[in-house]
Formats: sequence, C-alpha cells, structure tokens
Amino acid sequence: MANEKTLSIIKPNATLDNNIGNIISMFEKNDLRIAAAKLTQLSKEKAEGFYIEHKDRPFFGELVEFMTSGPVVLMVLEGENAVAKNREIMGATNPAEAAEGTIRKLYAKSIGENAVHDSDSAQSAEREVSYFFEKNEIVDRF
Ligand code: CMP
Repeated sequence: MANEKTLSIIKPNATLDNNIGNIISMFEKNDLRIAAAKLTQLSKEKAEGFYIEHKDRPFFGELVEFMTSGPVVLMVLEGENAVAKNREIMGATNPAEAAEGTIRKLYAKSIGENAVHDSDSAQSAEREVSYFFEKNEIVDRF
C-alpha cells in the first residue's frame, strides 16, 4: 500500500462543540499522522473556491455560509492508504447513513453540519492540499 497525503477539515460545528481533540484522536488511533495543521476562519472567497465543483448545486450558498461561520482546522493527514482510510473513519456524508463509531456518526449534526471534510480521491487530495498549504508548511519526517 502506498503512503499518501489527504486533506481533512474539521468544520465549524465540531470546532465550536470542542470536538477538535476527539476527532484528531480518531485519526491518530487509526495510524494517520498530522503532517500540517492550521486553525483558521475561511473567507467567503476561499470557501467558494474550495467547493467550486459544487457551485451549481442547490446547497452551495448554505455550504459556503456554514463553512465561514466559525473556526475550521485544516490538516494534511499522512499514512498508508490515507485517502481511503480517512473516508472510512469519517463515515457517510449524511450522518443518518454513517456507520456506528465513525466521526460523522459521533459528531455530525446534519448533512450540512457534518463535522469533517475529506478529499474523495488521490487526485482531489493533491488539489485540496495545495489549495490550503504551501509545500514548506508540510512536514515529511514520518
Ligand atoms: P463535504 O465532504 O465537505 O463536501 C461537500 C459538502 O456539501 C458535504 O460535505 C456536505 O456537508 C455538503 N452537502 C452535500 N449534500 C448536501 C445537501 N443535500 N444539503 C446540504 N449540504 C450538503
């Protein structure tokens, strides 16, 4: 299995609920390492650009409003099969469909306020990581 990097965002509902540590702990318990991290609040422009592929979806305005409503934690996670592993730990986009013990089952409120974002493929991971992080902000010591 390949060593990969993927982007993870802890969303405003989870940061405001004080679940940053609980969520990071789930990544670490599953052998994903944090290779970069920032706590920040996204501007409207930055959130719109990040979710540009959804710009024609009916929920786009709501999504951008929510993602700019409070602090987020942007992280690069690294590990074997990191993209697929992160998706498994997070659970389905809609928490009503997420498996027991997944981050979204535990910490999401709704399909919109769903606690975490991840990259859905190695290709989107590459775009998403470089959207938020410069190369020199990502450690490669592991
Ligand atoms: P995320 O993994 O961040 O990628 C796109 C986001 O759009 C998704 O998680 C959801 O939070 C959001 N989303 C997807 N479908 C809907 C929907 N029907 N209503 C509101 N938000 C949605």
